[in-house]
Amino acid sequence: MNLDIVILAAGRGTRMNSNIPKVLHKIGGDSMLGHVLGAARKLESDQIHIVVGYGAEQIKTQFSSDEELQWALQDKQLGTGHAVMQAMPRIDTTKPEKLVLVLYGDVPLTNFSTLSKLIQQASGNTLCILTLITDKPKGLGRIVRDDAGEITEIVEEKDANEKQKKIKEINTGIMVIPAAKLNTWLNSLGNDNAQGEYYLTDVVAMAAADDKCTISAMIIHDEKEVQGVNDKAQLASLERQFQMNNAEQLLKAGVLLRDPSRIDVRGEIDTGSDVEIDINVIFEGEVSLGNGVKIGANVIIKDSKIADNVNILPGSNIDGAEIGEGSSVGPYARLRPGTVLKENTKIGNFVETKNAVIGKGSKASHLAYIGDAVLGENVNIGAGTIFCNYDGVNKHKTIIGDNVFVGSNSVLVAPVTLADNTFVAAGSSINSDVPADSLAIARGKQRNITGWKRPTKK
Ligand code: UD1
Ligand code: CA
Repeated sequence: MNLDIVILAAGRGTRMNSNIPKVLHKIGGDSMLGHVLGAARKLESDQIHIVVGYGAEQIKTQFSSDEELQWALQDKQLGTGHAVMQAMPRIDTTKPEKLVLVLYGDVPLTNFSTLSKLIQQASGNTLCILTLITDKPKGLGRIVRDDAGEITEIVEEKDANEKQKKIKEINTGIMVIPAAKLNTWLNSLGNDNAQGEYYLTDVVAMAAADDKCTISAMIIHDEKEVQGVNDKAQLASLERQFQMNNAEQLLKAGVLLRDPSRIDVRGEIDTGSDVEIDINVIFEGEVSLGNGVKIGANVIIKDSKIADNVNILPGSNIDGAEIGEGSSVGPYARLRPGTVLKENTKIGNFVETKNAVIGKGSKASHLAYIGDAVLGENVNIGAGTIFCNYDGVNKHKTIIGDNVFVGSNSVLVAPVTLADNTFVAAGSSINSDVPADSLAIARGKQRNITGWKRPTKK
């Protein structure tokens, strides 16, 4: 590929009313710049340059794991042309076929396929602009064409005359420009305009004046792909459009959504057949749902694998868990990272698990904390059972064999092992190992005082 990509992200975004740099605000759980980079990376360019200014360090830190990115600093935001100039020293302008794709860090939802088509229309002597025809062109650069329909220039709203202001074809800002020519044009860019800025859009008139250069436009029809974000209202509106799009894809894949406008996907979700999702469900990170999975209302699932025919009841919160086939979770269960539920398990209401493997057919139906534990098959954990895994400094493990019954309101003080077929009497405080096939009772003995009278009021 003879392509370099320049992403403009130096602007402060004053209208966001925020201390966070604009491009770090999120859509669907990923920053706007993250979305732009996602599409850019798929294009297989030679280099990706990001022009930063306001909040430069904060932005660089967030993307520091990608060492291939080229950062260019624009100290003062003197315009989009000036911004691109900051990246030019690192772009090889000696190759006549080299192209530069300009993207904006605050236009997050452009599809890879759109960009790919745009690039195919450009060449060493063809500049290609992505344009949009809209009834609301206010504030945007207008595409000016001559009588033959050829593009002659782009005029910014503030510099446009009354006739130009009526033009409905606008500049989305996304362009592919031959690198060598761009370099020359940028060097002769002036700032004699209404905003006193170096406009990138002025290179279009220069291209029109160049006999050896043609200009082509690709008109986009899906407006959200080129929508920029300048304030929180636009951010919220784009978030909804993004989520509607996710919902449509899930419906198309056969997932039953009780209300497509009440689901949020902030990451990647993989679904089997006949999945049903009730309202207000949030998916984060990487989630996979097997066949026949049912998810109740108000559930949050993050980075988890859920096998076939699992039932997640309302209000549950699942993070970093693996849930085996046929299991039931909730209502109001909290599964924390390291939870592995084998087949046909049941984790009921107000049960919290963390770093715990729960064997096949085992149950904790109500009100329990199970942390740092391994449970065998067909174990029953009674209501109110607490696994005491923490001594204030270190975490300790509880090991439970098969067919163990732990009576209600018991405390298992780790490290401790309950062997196969053991039975813990309700209300016990267990702090030493229990051998197989035995009953453990560890509680104060009951005493009845006969004929005792309640105190009376004086
Ligand atoms: C620009 C275009 C306009 C187009 C519109 C689409 C120019 C002169 N105008 O308008 O034709 O219709 O986008 O939204 O190019 N940026 C920098 N450094 C700067 C200035 C801007 O990095 O010095 C970045 C911003 O952070 C933003 C992008 O460039 O991501 C666009 O800047 P913005 O000020 O929103 O563009 P406009 O001038 O409104
Ligand atoms: Ca803008």
